[in-house]
Amino acid sequence: MKSVLDFKKSDRKITMLTCYDYWSARLLNDSPVDCILVGDSGAMVMHGYPDTVAATSELMALHTRAVKLGAPDRFIIGDMPFLSFRGSLDKSLDCVMQLMRAGAQAVKLEGAAGHLELVQHLTESGVPVMGHLGLTPQSVHAFGGFKVQAKEAKAQQKLLKDAKDLQEAGCFALVLECVPTQIAREVTESLDIPTIGIGAGPHCDGQVLVLQDMLGAQTHFKPKFVRHFANVAEIIKQAIQDFSQDVQSGAFPTPQESYA
Ligand code: KIV
Repeated sequence: MKSVLDFKKSDRKITMLTCYDYWSARLLNDSPVDCILVGDSGAMVMHGYPDTVAATSELMALHTRAVKLGAPDRFIIGDMPFLSFRGSLDKSLDCVMQLMRAGAQAVKLEGAAGHLELVQHLTESGVPVMGHLGLTPQSVHAFGGFKVQAKEAKAQQKLLKDAKDLQEAGCFALVLECVPTQIAREVTESLDIPTIGIGAGPHCDGQVLVLQDMLGAQTHFKPKFVRHFANVAEIIKQAIQDFSQDVQSGAFPTPQESYA
C-alpha cells in the first residue's frame, strides 16, 4: 500500500472525507477515498452544537468505533477534541488511547505551539499524528468566528513556522483550513509531508471535506469552499414525502411487501 508520503512525491492527490457513523462509513469503505477523518465537526453536524468545543474524548471514541465497524479497510484518523491535548501528558495519552482502541489508526490535533513535545512523544510511541493549522475550529472564540486565517504577512510567517515545527515534531500530514491559496501553496512546497486542504485552494497535496457538506445533505450552511457534489437533502425530503403519501393512500405496503 502506498503511504501518504509517496503521494506527496507523485501527482496523485490525497482524498479525505469526514465520517461519524456506521452506515456512511460502509459507503466510504467501498469508495476510492484514501482516508476517513472522524472529525470533531461531528459535534456540529451530528449533534447540532454551534461549534466543536462541545466534543469530548468519549464522544469522539463512540463515533470512531462506529466508523471503524463500517469501514474496516480504510485509514481512520480520530480528532482529539477541545483541550484534550492541552492538560497533562497522562490526560492526553488517555484520549489517544480511547481513540486508537476505538479503531483510529492516527490522531489529529489542532495548532502547534504548546504541544510539539506531545506530538513528538506520540510519534515516538508509534502513534501517527496529523497536524491542523489555519482556521483551527477549536479556537473559534479566539478568532471571533469562523474566518479565513493567515491573511497578513506576519500570520503567514507564523503559519510557515508552525507547519515546519509540526513536521519536525513528527507529523505525517497537515490539514490546512481556510487560508489563502498562495500561502497554502508556499507551505505545501516547503514541507516534505503532505498538506490536505479545506478552503486552502488547489495546490495542497490533497483535499478534505465534511461528508454531509459535499453531499448537499445540510443546506443551512455552505461556506465558499464547499462544493455540493450531490443534492442529498432534496432526495431525502422527496423520499420522506413519497413515503408519507403512499402510506396515506394505501399504496404502501403492497402484498409483496407484506407477509402472507
Ligand atoms: O473536524 C473536522 O471535520 C475537521 C476538518 C474540517 C478538517 O477537522
